[in-house]
Amino acid sequence: MTQQRKSVHGSWSNRLAFVLAATGSAVGLGNIWKFPYIAGENGGGAFVLVYLVCIGLIGIPIMMAEVMLGRRGRQSPINTMRTLAAEANAHPAWRWLGWAGVIAGFLILSYYSVIAGWALAYVFRSMAGVFDGATADGVGSIFTQLTEDPERLLAWHTIFMVMTMVVVARGVKSGLEQAVRFLVPALFVLLIMLDGYAMASGAFQQGLDFLFTPDFSKITANGVLIAMGHSFFTLSLGMGAIMVYGSYLPDRTSVARTSIIIALLDTLVALLAGMAIFPLVFSNGLEPGSGPGLIFQTLPIAFGHMTGGDLFGTLFFVLLVFAAWTSAISLIEPAVAWLVENKGMTRVHASVYAGAATWGMGLVTILSFSHWSDFHPLSFISIFEKYTVFDLLDYLTANIMLPLGGLAIAIFSAWVMRRQDSVQELDMGDGPAYRLWHFLVCYVTPVAVVVVFLNVTGIVEF
Ligand code: PFF
Repeated sequence: MTQQRKSVHGSWSNRLAFVLAATGSAVGLGNIWKFPYIAGENGGGAFVLVYLVCIGLIGIPIMMAEVMLGRRGRQSPINTMRTLAAEANAHPAWRWLGWAGVIAGFLILSYYSVIAGWALAYVFRSMAGVFDGATADGVGSIFTQLTEDPERLLAWHTIFMVMTMVVVARGVKSGLEQAVRFLVPALFVLLIMLDGYAMASGAFQQGLDFLFTPDFSKITANGVLIAMGHSFFTLSLGMGAIMVYGSYLPDRTSVARTSIIIALLDTLVALLAGMAIFPLVFSNGLEPGSGPGLIFQTLPIAFGHMTGGDLFGTLFFVLLVFAAWTSAISLIEPAVAWLVENKGMTRVHASVYAGAATWGMGLVTILSFSHWSDFHPLSFISIFEKYTVFDLLDYLTANIMLPLGGLAIAIFSAWVMRRQDSVQELDMGDGPAYRLWHFLVCYVTPVAVVVVFLNVTGIVEF
Protein backbone atom coordinates (compact mmCIF):
# COMPACT_ATOMS: atom_id res chain seq x y z
CA MET A 1 0.00 0.00 0.00
CA THR A 2 1.21 3.42 -0.79
CA GLN A 3 0.04 6.92 -0.13
CA GLN A 4 -2.84 7.81 -2.39
CA ARG A 5 -1.23 10.71 -4.23
CA LYS A 6 -1.57 10.96 -7.98
CA SER A 7 0.90 12.37 -10.45
CA VAL A 8 -0.43 15.16 -12.64
CA HIS A 9 1.93 13.98 -15.37
CA GLY A 10 0.32 10.57 -15.85
CA SER A 11 1.79 7.20 -15.07
CA TRP A 12 3.47 4.21 -16.73
CA SER A 13 1.13 1.65 -18.23
CA ASN A 14 2.60 -1.11 -16.07
CA ARG A 15 5.68 -2.32 -14.25
CA LEU A 16 7.44 -3.39 -17.42
CA ALA A 17 7.08 0.11 -18.80
CA PHE A 18 8.83 1.51 -15.76
CA VAL A 19 11.61 -1.08 -15.94
CA LEU A 20 12.11 -0.21 -19.58
CA ALA A 21 12.12 3.53 -19.02
CA ALA A 22 14.46 3.35 -16.04
CA THR A 23 16.73 0.97 -17.93
CA GLY A 24 16.63 3.40 -20.82
CA SER A 25 17.72 6.13 -18.46
CA ALA A 26 20.50 4.03 -16.93
CA VAL A 27 21.90 2.49 -20.10
CA GLY A 28 23.49 5.22 -22.12
CA LEU A 29 26.75 6.89 -23.00
CA GLY A 30 27.86 6.16 -19.45
CA ASN A 31 28.08 2.45 -20.21
CA ILE A 32 29.50 2.45 -23.69
CA TRP A 33 31.44 5.68 -24.00
CA LYS A 34 32.39 6.65 -20.45
CA PHE A 35 32.96 3.38 -18.62
CA PRO A 36 35.65 2.06 -20.99
CA TYR A 37 37.56 5.32 -21.11
CA ILE A 38 37.60 5.98 -17.37
CA ALA A 39 38.45 2.33 -16.69
CA GLY A 40 41.30 2.76 -19.16
CA GLU A 41 42.51 5.99 -17.56
CA ASN A 42 42.40 4.55 -14.06
CA GLY A 43 44.31 1.33 -14.60
CA GLY A 44 41.58 -1.23 -15.36
CA GLY A 45 40.89 -4.17 -13.02
CA ALA A 46 41.07 -2.51 -9.61
CA PHE A 47 38.93 0.36 -10.85
CA VAL A 48 36.36 -2.07 -12.27
CA LEU A 49 36.25 -3.93 -8.97
CA VAL A 50 35.63 -0.75 -6.96
CA TYR A 51 32.94 0.23 -9.43
CA LEU A 52 31.20 -3.16 -9.08
CA VAL A 53 31.31 -3.00 -5.28
CA CYS A 54 29.83 0.51 -5.41
CA ILE A 55 26.99 -0.67 -7.67
CA GLY A 56 26.10 -3.43 -5.19
CA LEU A 57 26.53 -1.62 -1.90
CA ILE A 58 25.56 1.92 -2.84
CA GLY A 59 23.89 1.97 -6.25
CA ILE A 60 21.14 -0.59 -5.72
CA PRO A 61 20.09 0.67 -2.25
CA ILE A 62 20.06 4.30 -3.45
CA MET A 63 18.06 3.35 -6.50
CA MET A 64 15.49 1.72 -4.22
CA ALA A 65 15.42 4.83 -2.06
CA GLU A 66 14.92 7.14 -5.05
CA VAL A 67 12.11 5.05 -6.53
CA MET A 68 10.49 4.86 -3.12
CA LEU A 69 10.65 8.63 -2.52
CA GLY A 70 9.41 9.37 -6.02
CA ARG A 71 6.48 7.03 -5.79
CA ARG A 72 5.46 8.37 -2.41
CA GLY A 73 5.76 12.02 -3.43
CA ARG A 74 4.36 11.65 -6.96
CA GLN A 75 5.68 15.04 -8.10
CA SER A 76 8.84 16.57 -9.48
CA PRO A 77 11.80 15.87 -7.17
CA ILE A 78 11.69 19.44 -5.81
CA ASN A 79 8.03 19.18 -4.79
CA THR A 80 8.34 15.54 -3.76
CA MET A 81 11.10 16.45 -1.32
CA ARG A 82 9.07 19.37 0.01
CA THR A 83 6.00 17.19 0.52
CA LEU A 84 7.89 14.32 2.11
CA ALA A 85 9.87 16.65 4.36
CA ALA A 86 6.61 18.14 5.61
CA GLU A 87 5.20 14.67 6.14
CA ALA A 88 8.22 13.76 8.26
CA ASN A 89 8.17 17.11 10.11
CA ALA A 90 11.59 17.85 8.71
CA HIS A 91 13.04 21.18 7.56
CA PRO A 92 11.65 22.48 4.24
CA ALA A 93 15.24 22.98 3.11
CA TRP A 94 15.15 19.36 1.95
CA ARG A 95 13.59 20.64 -1.23
CA TRP A 96 17.03 21.99 -2.10
CA LEU A 97 17.98 18.42 -2.76
CA GLY A 98 15.53 18.56 -5.65
CA TRP A 99 17.07 21.81 -6.85
CA ALA A 100 20.59 20.43 -6.72
CA GLY A 101 19.35 17.55 -8.87
CA VAL A 102 17.82 19.89 -11.44
CA ILE A 103 21.11 21.79 -11.69
CA ALA A 104 23.14 18.57 -11.98
CA GLY A 105 20.81 17.28 -14.71
CA PHE A 106 21.11 20.54 -16.62
CA LEU A 107 24.92 20.52 -16.43
CA ILE A 108 25.22 16.84 -17.33
CA LEU A 109 22.85 17.10 -20.27
CA SER A 110 24.78 20.09 -21.60
CA TYR A 111 27.83 17.92 -22.27
CA TYR A 112 26.01 14.63 -22.72
CA SER A 113 24.27 16.08 -25.75
CA VAL A 114 27.58 17.12 -27.32
CA ILE A 115 28.97 13.59 -26.97
CA ALA A 116 25.71 12.13 -28.28
CA GLY A 117 26.29 14.47 -31.23
CA TRP A 118 29.59 12.65 -31.89
CA ALA A 119 27.67 9.39 -32.05
CA LEU A 120 25.18 10.96 -34.47
CA ALA A 121 28.02 12.15 -36.68
CA TYR A 122 29.47 8.64 -36.63
CA VAL A 123 26.21 7.14 -37.86
CA PHE A 124 26.66 9.05 -41.09
CA ARG A 125 30.39 8.41 -41.33
CA SER A 126 29.81 4.66 -41.01
CA MET A 127 27.04 4.78 -43.55
CA ALA A 128 29.29 6.55 -46.01
CA GLY A 129 31.94 3.87 -45.62
CA VAL A 130 34.50 6.34 -44.28
CA PHE A 131 36.03 3.68 -42.03
CA ASP A 132 36.63 1.05 -44.73
CA GLY A 133 40.09 -0.40 -44.21
CA ALA A 134 40.89 2.36 -41.72
CA THR A 135 44.07 2.32 -39.65
CA ALA A 136 44.36 3.51 -36.05
CA ASP A 137 45.94 6.73 -37.29
CA GLY A 138 43.25 7.28 -39.89
CA VAL A 139 40.46 6.78 -37.40
CA GLY A 140 42.25 9.05 -34.93
CA SER A 141 42.39 11.89 -37.40
CA ILE A 142 38.74 11.46 -38.40
CA PHE A 143 37.93 11.88 -34.71
CA THR A 144 40.01 15.00 -34.17
CA GLN A 145 38.72 16.58 -37.34
CA LEU A 146 35.25 16.31 -35.89
CA THR A 147 35.95 17.38 -32.34
CA GLU A 148 38.16 20.30 -33.30
CA ASP A 149 35.45 21.77 -35.51
CA PRO A 150 33.10 23.73 -33.24
CA GLU A 151 30.61 24.42 -36.00
CA ARG A 152 30.06 20.77 -36.78
CA LEU A 153 29.83 19.91 -33.11
CA LEU A 154 27.30 22.67 -32.64
CA ALA A 155 25.18 21.35 -35.50
CA TRP A 156 25.09 17.79 -34.09
CA HIS A 157 24.53 19.03 -30.54
CA THR A 158 21.61 21.13 -31.79
CA ILE A 159 20.06 18.16 -33.59
CA PHE A 160 20.37 15.97 -30.53
CA MET A 161 18.88 18.60 -28.20
CA VAL A 162 15.93 19.08 -30.54
CA MET A 163 15.38 15.29 -30.65
CA THR A 164 15.41 15.19 -26.85
CA MET A 165 13.06 18.09 -26.36
CA VAL A 166 10.56 16.70 -28.87
CA VAL A 167 10.19 13.49 -26.88
CA VAL A 168 10.11 15.32 -23.54
CA ALA A 169 7.42 17.66 -24.83
CA ARG A 170 5.23 14.70 -25.77
CA GLY A 171 5.24 13.34 -22.25
CA VAL A 172 6.41 10.33 -20.39
CA LYS A 173 4.54 7.61 -22.13
CA SER A 174 4.33 8.19 -25.82
CA GLY A 175 7.40 7.13 -27.67
CA LEU A 176 9.67 6.46 -24.77
CA GLU A 177 8.30 3.10 -23.72
CA GLN A 178 8.29 1.81 -27.27
CA ALA A 179 11.81 2.95 -28.02
CA VAL A 180 13.38 1.18 -25.06
CA ARG A 181 11.47 -2.03 -25.61
CA PHE A 182 13.41 -2.64 -28.77
CA LEU A 183 16.56 -0.72 -27.96
CA VAL A 184 17.92 -2.63 -24.99
CA PRO A 185 17.68 -6.11 -26.54
CA ALA A 186 19.14 -4.85 -29.82
CA LEU A 187 22.03 -3.20 -28.01
CA PHE A 188 22.78 -6.47 -26.25
CA VAL A 189 22.85 -8.41 -29.49
CA LEU A 190 25.20 -5.94 -31.16
CA LEU A 191 27.54 -5.78 -28.20
CA ILE A 192 27.73 -9.56 -28.03
CA MET A 193 28.56 -9.66 -31.73
CA LEU A 194 31.28 -7.08 -31.15
CA ASP A 195 32.60 -9.21 -28.31
CA GLY A 196 32.71 -12.12 -30.75
CA TYR A 197 34.79 -9.98 -33.08
CA ALA A 198 37.09 -8.93 -30.24
CA MET A 199 37.55 -12.58 -29.31
CA ALA A 200 39.09 -13.19 -32.69
CA SER A 201 41.28 -10.08 -32.53
CA GLY A 202 44.22 -11.86 -30.95
CA ALA A 203 44.28 -9.71 -27.83
CA PHE A 204 41.07 -10.87 -26.16
CA GLN A 205 42.85 -12.37 -23.17
CA GLN A 206 44.92 -9.23 -22.71
CA GLY A 207 41.73 -7.18 -22.78
CA LEU A 208 40.08 -9.40 -20.20
CA ASP A 209 43.14 -9.30 -17.95
CA PHE A 210 43.18 -5.55 -18.13
CA LEU A 211 39.52 -5.32 -17.12
CA PHE A 212 39.28 -8.11 -14.58
CA THR A 213 42.66 -8.63 -12.94
CA PRO A 214 42.86 -6.03 -10.20
CA ASP A 215 46.22 -4.41 -9.66
CA PHE A 216 45.70 -2.15 -6.68
CA SER A 217 48.96 -0.33 -7.22
CA LYS A 218 47.34 1.25 -10.27
CA ILE A 219 44.44 2.91 -8.51
CA THR A 220 44.60 6.24 -6.76
CA ALA A 221 42.29 7.90 -4.23
CA ASN A 222 40.93 9.96 -7.09
CA GLY A 223 40.38 6.78 -9.09
CA VAL A 224 38.24 5.40 -6.25
CA LEU A 225 36.15 8.58 -6.26
CA ILE A 226 35.76 8.35 -10.04
CA ALA A 227 34.61 4.71 -9.74
CA MET A 228 32.10 5.65 -7.04
CA GLY A 229 30.91 8.69 -8.99
CA HIS A 230 30.45 6.52 -12.03
CA SER A 231 28.26 4.08 -10.13
CA PHE A 232 25.86 6.99 -9.54
CA PHE A 233 26.19 8.32 -13.07
CA THR A 234 25.65 5.02 -14.81
CA LEU A 235 22.54 4.19 -12.77
CA SER A 236 21.20 7.76 -13.16
CA LEU A 237 21.24 8.28 -9.40
CA GLY A 238 21.71 11.25 -7.10
CA MET A 239 19.85 13.87 -9.12
CA GLY A 240 16.20 12.88 -9.16
CA ALA A 241 16.00 11.21 -12.59
CA ILE A 242 15.02 7.86 -11.15
CA MET A 243 12.95 9.65 -8.50
CA VAL A 244 10.87 11.39 -11.14
CA TYR A 245 10.43 8.12 -13.04
CA GLY A 246 9.43 6.48 -9.77
CA SER A 247 6.76 9.14 -9.37
CA TYR A 248 5.03 7.74 -12.46
CA LEU A 249 5.21 4.18 -11.14
CA PRO A 250 1.95 2.39 -10.44
CA ASP A 251 1.41 1.28 -6.84
CA ARG A 252 2.25 -2.24 -5.79
CA THR A 253 5.39 -2.83 -7.76
CA SER A 254 8.39 -4.48 -6.13
CA VAL A 255 10.88 -1.66 -5.84
CA ALA A 256 13.71 -3.98 -4.78
CA ARG A 257 13.35 -6.50 -7.56
CA THR A 258 12.97 -3.78 -10.16
CA SER A 259 16.07 -1.92 -8.96
CA ILE A 260 18.17 -5.06 -8.99
CA ILE A 261 17.11 -5.94 -12.53
CA ILE A 262 17.95 -2.45 -13.78
CA ALA A 263 21.34 -2.40 -12.08
CA LEU A 264 22.24 -5.84 -13.44
CA LEU A 265 21.27 -4.96 -16.99
CA ASP A 266 23.18 -1.72 -16.80
CA THR A 267 26.32 -3.37 -15.45
CA LEU A 268 26.17 -6.09 -18.06
CA VAL A 269 26.07 -3.54 -20.87
CA ALA A 270 29.12 -1.73 -19.45
CA LEU A 271 31.12 -4.94 -19.07
CA LEU A 272 30.19 -6.16 -22.55
CA ALA A 273 31.30 -2.81 -23.94
CA GLY A 274 34.61 -2.98 -22.07
CA MET A 275 35.20 -6.53 -23.29
CA ALA A 276 34.67 -5.43 -26.86
CA ILE A 277 36.86 -2.37 -26.66
CA PHE A 278 40.01 -3.32 -24.76
CA PRO A 279 41.05 -6.23 -26.98
CA LEU A 280 40.81 -3.81 -29.91
CA VAL A 281 42.82 -1.23 -28.01
CA PHE A 282 45.63 -3.71 -27.42
CA SER A 283 45.58 -5.42 -30.80
CA ASN A 284 45.92 -2.03 -32.48
CA GLY A 285 48.65 -0.74 -30.22
CA LEU A 286 46.43 2.02 -28.80
CA GLU A 287 46.62 3.59 -25.38
CA PRO A 288 43.89 2.45 -22.90
CA GLY A 289 44.14 5.82 -21.16
CA SER A 290 43.59 7.92 -24.25
CA GLY A 291 40.50 9.64 -22.88
CA PRO A 292 37.01 10.52 -24.06
CA GLY A 293 37.74 9.61 -27.68
CA LEU A 294 38.47 5.97 -26.81
CA ILE A 295 35.47 4.21 -28.36
CA PHE A 296 35.39 6.60 -31.30
CA GLN A 297 39.00 5.73 -32.04
CA THR A 298 38.81 1.98 -31.55
CA LEU A 299 35.46 0.61 -32.72
CA PRO A 300 35.66 2.16 -36.20
CA ILE A 301 38.87 0.18 -36.81
CA ALA A 302 36.87 -3.00 -36.20
CA PHE A 303 34.00 -1.79 -38.39
CA GLY A 304 36.48 -0.90 -41.11
CA HIS A 305 37.85 -4.43 -41.28
CA MET A 306 34.87 -6.72 -40.86
CA THR A 307 32.60 -7.88 -43.64
CA GLY A 308 29.43 -5.85 -43.59
CA GLY A 309 31.22 -3.39 -41.29
CA ASP A 310 29.52 -0.34 -42.75
CA LEU A 311 26.09 -1.67 -41.95
CA PHE A 312 27.17 -3.02 -38.61
CA GLY A 313 28.89 0.22 -37.63
CA THR A 314 25.89 2.26 -38.71
CA LEU A 315 23.60 0.08 -36.63
CA PHE A 316 25.90 0.31 -33.63
CA PHE A 317 26.03 4.09 -33.66
CA VAL A 318 22.28 4.32 -34.25
CA LEU A 319 21.76 2.23 -31.12
CA LEU A 320 24.25 4.36 -29.21
CA VAL A 321 22.29 7.45 -30.19
CA PHE A 322 19.08 5.80 -29.02
CA ALA A 323 20.67 4.80 -25.74
CA ALA A 324 21.86 8.37 -25.22
CA TRP A 325 18.45 9.72 -26.20
CA THR A 326 16.54 7.71 -23.61
CA SER A 327 19.03 8.86 -20.95
CA ALA A 328 18.94 12.49 -22.01
CA ILE A 329 15.18 12.56 -21.59
CA SER A 330 15.50 11.58 -17.96
CA LEU A 331 18.18 14.19 -17.31
CA ILE A 332 15.80 17.02 -18.12
CA GLU A 333 12.55 15.50 -16.85
CA PRO A 334 12.93 16.73 -13.23
CA ALA A 335 13.25 20.34 -14.46
CA VAL A 336 10.36 20.02 -16.91
CA ALA A 337 8.08 18.41 -14.32
CA TRP A 338 8.83 21.29 -11.94
CA LEU A 339 8.16 23.98 -14.57
CA VAL A 340 4.80 22.34 -15.30
CA GLU A 341 3.87 22.04 -11.63
CA ASN A 342 5.06 25.39 -10.34
CA LYS A 343 5.08 27.75 -13.30
CA GLY A 344 1.88 26.50 -14.87
CA MET A 345 3.62 25.88 -18.19
CA THR A 346 2.52 23.30 -20.73
CA ARG A 347 4.98 20.46 -21.31
CA VAL A 348 5.82 21.97 -24.67
CA HIS A 349 6.76 25.35 -23.21
CA ALA A 350 8.63 23.80 -20.33
CA SER A 351 10.63 21.64 -22.74
CA VAL A 352 11.52 24.59 -24.92
CA TYR A 353 12.78 26.68 -21.99
CA ALA A 354 14.73 23.91 -20.34
CA GLY A 355 16.11 22.70 -23.67
CA ALA A 356 17.22 26.14 -24.81
CA ALA A 357 19.12 26.78 -21.59
CA THR A 358 20.85 23.40 -21.78
CA TRP A 359 21.68 23.90 -25.43
CA GLY A 360 23.39 27.22 -24.60
CA MET A 361 25.42 25.65 -21.83
CA GLY A 362 26.57 22.99 -24.31
CA LEU A 363 28.73 25.63 -26.01
CA VAL A 364 31.16 25.39 -23.10
CA THR A 365 31.80 21.73 -23.88
CA ILE A 366 32.05 22.31 -27.60
CA LEU A 367 34.72 24.96 -27.08
CA SER A 368 36.62 22.71 -24.66
CA PHE A 369 37.56 20.51 -27.60
CA SER A 370 38.76 23.35 -29.84
CA HIS A 371 39.46 26.95 -28.82
CA TRP A 372 39.67 26.13 -25.14
CA SER A 373 41.49 22.82 -25.43
CA ASP A 374 44.57 24.28 -23.74
CA PHE A 375 42.60 26.11 -21.09
CA HIS A 376 43.01 24.27 -17.79
CA PRO A 377 41.26 26.53 -15.25
CA LEU A 378 42.25 24.52 -12.16
CA SER A 379 45.76 23.58 -13.23
CA PHE A 380 47.09 24.69 -9.82
CA ILE A 381 45.44 21.62 -8.24
CA SER A 382 47.49 18.58 -9.17
CA ILE A 383 44.66 16.18 -10.03
CA PHE A 384 43.05 18.82 -12.24
CA GLU A 385 46.25 19.89 -13.93
CA LYS A 386 45.23 18.70 -17.40
CA TYR A 387 41.46 19.08 -16.99
CA THR A 388 39.65 21.14 -19.61
CA VAL A 389 36.38 22.90 -18.80
CA PHE A 390 34.52 19.84 -20.11
CA ASP A 391 36.57 17.51 -17.88
CA LEU A 392 35.82 19.73 -14.89
CA LEU A 393 32.12 19.82 -15.66
CA ASP A 394 32.05 16.05 -15.88
CA TYR A 395 34.09 15.71 -12.69
CA LEU A 396 32.00 18.19 -10.73
CA THR A 397 28.71 16.61 -11.70
CA ALA A 398 29.51 12.88 -11.71
CA ASN A 399 32.01 12.74 -8.87
CA ILE A 400 30.80 15.48 -6.55
CA MET A 401 27.19 16.47 -7.18
CA LEU A 402 25.74 12.99 -7.75
CA PRO A 403 27.43 11.36 -4.73
CA LEU A 404 26.37 14.31 -2.55
CA GLY A 405 22.84 13.97 -3.88
CA GLY A 406 22.99 10.24 -3.13
CA LEU A 407 24.27 10.96 0.36
CA ALA A 408 21.36 13.30 1.03
CA ILE A 409 18.87 10.78 -0.37
CA ALA A 410 20.34 8.09 1.89
CA ILE A 411 20.15 10.35 4.95
CA PHE A 412 16.62 11.40 4.17
CA SER A 413 15.26 7.92 3.60
CA ALA A 414 17.06 6.29 6.51
CA TRP A 415 17.22 9.01 9.14
CA VAL A 416 14.50 11.53 8.38
CA MET A 417 11.61 9.60 6.89
CA ARG A 418 9.61 7.62 9.40
CA ARG A 419 10.59 3.99 9.40
CA GLN A 420 7.00 2.84 9.11
CA ASP A 421 6.64 4.93 5.95
CA SER A 422 9.61 3.35 4.23
CA VAL A 423 8.48 -0.11 5.32
CA GLN A 424 5.07 0.62 3.84
CA GLU A 425 6.39 2.15 0.64
CA LEU A 426 9.02 -0.48 -0.15
CA ASP A 427 6.31 -3.04 0.44
CA MET A 428 8.56 -5.97 1.26
CA GLY A 429 7.69 -6.40 4.93
CA ASP A 430 10.00 -5.68 7.84
CA GLY A 431 12.16 -8.78 7.34
CA PRO A 432 15.83 -9.32 6.52
CA ALA A 433 15.57 -7.78 3.03
CA TYR A 434 14.20 -4.51 4.40
CA ARG A 435 16.75 -4.49 7.21
CA LEU A 436 19.62 -5.05 4.84
CA TRP A 437 18.44 -2.12 2.72
CA HIS A 438 17.99 0.04 5.80
CA PHE A 439 21.44 -0.82 7.08
CA LEU A 440 23.03 0.00 3.73
CA VAL A 441 21.37 3.42 3.35
CA CYS A 442 21.69 4.19 7.03
CA TYR A 443 25.39 3.50 7.42
CA VAL A 444 27.19 2.09 4.42
CA THR A 445 26.33 4.72 1.82
CA PRO A 446 26.89 7.77 4.03
CA VAL A 447 30.15 6.44 5.43
CA ALA A 448 31.42 5.32 2.02
CA VAL A 449 30.70 8.67 0.36
CA VAL A 450 32.26 10.68 3.18
CA VAL A 451 35.35 8.46 3.45
CA VAL A 452 35.96 8.51 -0.30
CA PHE A 453 35.65 12.31 -0.32
CA LEU A 454 37.99 12.74 2.62
CA ASN A 455 40.43 10.33 1.05
CA VAL A 456 40.68 12.41 -2.10
CA THR A 457 41.28 15.59 -0.20
CA GLY A 458 44.03 13.78 1.71
CA ILE A 459 42.39 14.36 5.10
CA VAL A 460 42.03 10.63 5.64
CA GLU A 461 44.10 7.95 3.94
CA PHE A 462 43.36 4.31 3.54
N1 PFF B 1 22.88 6.87 -16.74
C1 PFF B 1 23.18 7.58 -17.94
C2 PFF B 1 24.32 6.88 -18.65
O1 PFF B 1 24.92 5.96 -18.10
O2 PFF B 1 24.62 7.27 -19.78
C3 PFF B 1 23.51 9.02 -17.68
C4 PFF B 1 22.60 9.70 -16.72
C5 PFF B 1 21.24 9.78 -16.98
C6 PFF B 1 23.11 10.21 -15.55
C7 PFF B 1 20.39 10.36 -16.05
C8 PFF B 1 22.30 10.78 -14.60
C9 PFF B 1 20.94 10.84 -14.88
F1 PFF B 1 20.18 11.36 -14.00
